[in-house]
Amino acid sequence: MIGDDSQLEQLKIVPDHESGALGQGTILAVAGGTAIGDYGLVNLDGGAIWGRGVAKVTVLTGAGISTDSGIPDFRGPNGVWTRDPAAEKLSTFQEYVANPAVRRRSWQARLAHPAWSAAPNAAHLALAELATTLDVWVITQNIDGLHQRAGTPAGRVLELHGTMYEVVCVGCGDRTQMTQALDRVKAGEDDPPCLRCGGILKSATVMFGQPLDRLVLAMAVNAASDCDLMLAVGSTLTVEPAASLCAVATEAGVHLVIVNRDPTPYDELATEVIREPIGTAIPRIAARLARYRSET
Ligand SMILES: NC(=O)c1ccc[n+]([C@@H]2O[C@H](COP(=O)([O-])OP(=O)(O)OC[C@H]3O[C@@H](n4cnc5c(N)ncnc54)[C@H](O)[C@@H]3O)[C@@H](O)[C@H]2O)c1
Ligand SMILES: [Zn+2]
Repeated sequence: MIGDDSQLEQLKIVPDHESGALGQGTILAVAGGTAIGDYGLVNLDGGAIWGRGVAKVTVLTGAGISTDSGIPDFRGPNGVWTRDPAAEKLSTFQEYVANPAVRRRSWQARLAHPAWSAAPNAAHLALAELATTLDVWVITQNIDGLHQRAGTPAGRVLELHGTMYEVVCVGCGDRTQMTQALDRVKAGEDDPPCLRCGGILKSATVMFGQPLDRLVLAMAVNAASDCDLMLAVGSTLTVEPAASLCAVATEAGVHLVIVNRDPTPYDELATEVIREPIGTAIPRIAARLARYRSET
């Protein structure tokens, strides 16, 4: 579920690992895989470099924010692709269009997707609550719809990699509901064609080899650069152009705070890297940001 790099170039989102410009902050806390209980935000008393005075927050989320809801990530220790590297190849658009067996397998995977029985977890809910106090944009790489179901207004969620709740025809572009297509699969159509033109149907997600929606990406670039704080949550930050939004933020002078179990290529740009589990870190950060906001 990835876009292509041409979009990145067109929008001039260029990560500058090579340039040596490390954004605006310094790395304050990187504790090799262990929980950090007293990172700057919590332990601040005057030292809060990124917590105070925050009115606009942009949150970039990845699969890691939904693991507590029972949806496995791809590249974490129990990730779908960590356990079965061949599965990654099947997520390419070209392979999907060319190979009916891949499509049949994909429809079965959609039918069995854990998102159908998942509920938003404490991190999704905390971000939704935060949106009632602060100006919040959520840019998500996830396709599971859990931010909206938690209560973040749909108009404030930018789904960079699309949604699994809709289906799109590769031939005519017709968009329909996923539930209708899955009903057809359950009734015995193992690769249901478009009812309008007979073309190939796929979920309305962005596969490897497909471009991202230009408008959604442009809005995400805007949200990343026009905020006081960028939180990158539960992403390996290896999927572009999504990950480069971190560099967009730091180049605009925004503090970047990364919450993720594993190291990411953007850690060196971050004001702070937090290894604490997302399910406790995000509610804590959100509550603190809301409190600071109410004090100003
Ligand atoms: N829920 C979903 O919609 C879903 C699920 C799997 C994959 N995807 C798609 O696959 C791609 C995967 O890339 P990605 O970077 O988002 O995810 P990823 O699978 O590459 O990485 C997830 C990261 O989150 C960390 N993590 C997982 N649970 C955590 C927790 N509770 N606390 C702290 N860290 C935790 C993992 O260790 C890992 O570093 C995305 O493009 C996304 O579209 C989406
Ligand atoms: Zn069609």
